[in-house]
Amino acid sequence: MKRGSGSKIISIGVILCLVGSILAGCSGRMREDEIKTIRIGVTVYDQYDTFISQLIEDFKSFAGEKESQTGIAINIEIYNAAGSQSTQNGQVEAMLDDDCNVICVNLVDRTEPTTIIDMAEKRNVPVIFFNRELVEEDLERWEQLYYVGAKAFESGIMEGEIAAEAFKDLPGADKNGDGVFQYVVLEGEAGHQDAIVRTEYSVSTIIENGVEVEKLSYGIANWNRAQAQTKMTQMLGEYGSQIELVLANNDDMALGAIDALKAAELEREKWPVVVGIDGTDVGLEAVKNGDMAGTVYNDKEGQAAAILNLAYELSIGGSLTGLGLEDGKYIRLPYSKIGPDDVDDYMKK
Ligand code: GAL
Repeated sequence: MKRGSGSKIISIGVILCLVGSILAGCSGRMREDEIKTIRIGVTVYDQYDTFISQLIEDFKSFAGEKESQTGIAINIEIYNAAGSQSTQNGQVEAMLDDDCNVICVNLVDRTEPTTIIDMAEKRNVPVIFFNRELVEEDLERWEQLYYVGAKAFESGIMEGEIAAEAFKDLPGADKNGDGVFQYVVLEGEAGHQDAIVRTEYSVSTIIENGVEVEKLSYGIANWNRAQAQTKMTQMLGEYGSQIELVLANNDDMALGAIDALKAAELEREKWPVVVGIDGTDVGLEAVKNGDMAGTVYNDKEGQAAAILNLAYELSIGGSLTGLGLEDGKYIRLPYSKIGPDDVDDYMKK
C-alpha cells in the first residue's frame, strides 16, 4: 500500500515536470523560472586600486539591473584580498562554504591559482578569473574556469600612437628640438601581463610611427599614484626638463607623475607629454583639463557586464552562447583611444 502510493507520487511528479517543460519551452527557462536567488562571490586583489574599484561599482550596478530584469535576487559577497594570496585563498574557501554558485577572482598572484582551482573543482563551483590573467595551462586545468579581461597588447599600441601623434602635432613636445623623444616609463607591477605588454608595445609603436626615441629612465610604481609621484620626483631630480614624455602603464601613475611635476613647480610649458591608460574618472578629468595628452580606455563597463552575465548564466545553468566566449573560456574586451576631442563622451559613461 505504502509503496503503491509512493510510486504514484513519483509518477505524478514526473508528469508535472514534463508538462512544465513543454509549457516553458525549454528546460533552461524552466530552471530560470524556478530559481529565486543566486549567490556570486567576488574577491579583488586590492580594493583601493582605482580601476578595480570602479569596475566593481559597475558590476554591482549591472547586478541590480539584472535583478530587476529577471526577478531573480542576486546576492553578492565582495572580499578584499589586500595583496595577500593566502588571504584570498581563505576568502574563496569561505565563499564556497557559503554556497556561492560561482566565484569571481581577481588573483593577487596570477601565477598561484592552484589552491583556488583545486578547491572550486572539488565543490564543482565555476570560477571566473578577471583582470589579472593566469597562464593558459592553468585555465585549461578544468572545464569550469573562465577569464574576462582586455586585449592587453592593444592598450600599448594605442598609448604609443597617442604619444607619436603628440610628438608630431604638439608644439614644444620636442623640448630640446633634437628630433628625438626622450622618455621615461612608469611601470605597473613586475610580472603583471598588462605592465609587460604595455611597456613593450607603447615604445615599439612610437618607433613604428616614425618617431625616434631615447629612454632616460623607468620606475616600477605598482599601479599606484603615490609611488609614481615618488619615482617621478627622483627622475625629475636626475633628468629635470630633459624628460619630454612620460609613458605610464595606467592613469593613476600618470597622475602621480603630474603630482610630481606640480610639486616641483615646473613651469607648465616645460612639462613633458604625459600619457596614461584606463580612462578612470580621475584620468578622464586630467585629459579634459589638459594635464594628460590622452589615455586609453580600459573598458571597465564592458568587463563588468561580461563577468556579471557569465556569472549569472553559470549560476542558473543557462546558455553561454552569445556571451562572446573565445575558445569557450575567454572574454576579452577591446580598448579605445581617448583624446581631448572625445573625452566628454567617455565622461558620460
Ligand atoms: C590593469 C589596470 C591597472 C590596474 C591593474 C590591476 O588592467 O590598467 O590600473 O587596475 O589592472 O590588476
